[in-house]
Amino acid sequence: PTEKGWVANHLHQYQGFWHPTRQLKGVIACQNHFQAQENDIFLITTPKSGTTWLKALTFALVNRVRFPNPKENHPLLTNNPHVLVPFLDMAYIDTDSPDFSSFTSPRLFSTHLPFVSLPKSVEDLGCKIVYLCRNPKDTFVSLYHFTNRLRHKEKGENSLEEVFDKFCRGVSLYGPFWDHVLGYWKQSLENPKRVLFLKYEDFKEEPKLHLKKLSEFLECPFSEEEENHTVIDQILNLCSFDNLSNLEVNKTGKLPSGEENCAFFRRGEIGDYKNFLTKEMLEKLDHLTKEKLPALLL
Ligand code: A3P
Repeated sequence: PTEKGWVANHLHQYQGFWHPTRQLKGVIACQNHFQAQENDIFLITTPKSGTTWLKALTFALVNRVRFPNPKENHPLLTNNPHVLVPFLDMAYIDTDSPDFSSFTSPRLFSTHLPFVSLPKSVEDLGCKIVYLCRNPKDTFVSLYHFTNRLRHKEKGENSLEEVFDKFCRGVSLYGPFWDHVLGYWKQSLENPKRVLFLKYEDFKEEPKLHLKKLSEFLECPFSEEEENHTVIDQILNLCSFDNLSNLEVNKTGKLPSGEENCAFFRRGEIGDYKNFLTKEMLEKLDHLTKEKLPALLL
């Protein structure tokens, strides 16, 4: 089935989830042609759950020996995180064999694909997956702003009510949101060495603890010496919303896919939903979350 005009793109349902029609070509080619390597790392989210932040943090973390100085010559100072950690399936939109030869090891990829749609070799090789979820209220508000920004000006904005109604019915980028989260949550319970399930809010509230957790999961824990030299704080500062959003590259640049880098930085806070959603809307989202994710109150 196809859903017209949700954003600039139509959405198409595939394997139970809604994909932008153009991107779907990349998803199918990626499923057919991508060959994972054992130490590949996959950063997975629903859109607007903090993908950009997770990309920056993980890039800085796994490359901290190559780039020890976050103030000088660090790739994050001059590249948007989406350039350093590209979306895997999007690389397949125009080709069946994208060139990943310049990637250093471990290769970092990201995707918004639900667990059921991941390329088979990711599962077969037991690659590590980091899943970041965010509460549906802030995710929805962030998504609403982002997608309206992407819509061509002449098409006008989608109303909040219209987008909200679709989101609740599961019709959103890579939605249903709740099914997406549930898929990875289950995997993280069944296989905690393979899938790390993180929450944006937890990371915001206790960043040090969660960065350490991420480093241990990825088998690159901080040494005592690194901890004494405040390496953890340096990475967190480098990747903070304030720092990244104020870099020239993120204020002015564009991604190869055409989006403006600044579109990935809006407020970066917990609870902005209070400024946009009515009491009824909040109750509806709470109700859906209780019904669909009882084990995981977001
Ligand atoms: P808001 O729209 O609520 O501000 P994604 O990266 O998945 O597209 O998600 C974008 C959301 O993450 C936006 O949320 C954006 O502001 C926020 N964000 C971007 N960089 C961040 C960072 N370094 N730290 C915290 N939040 C960040």
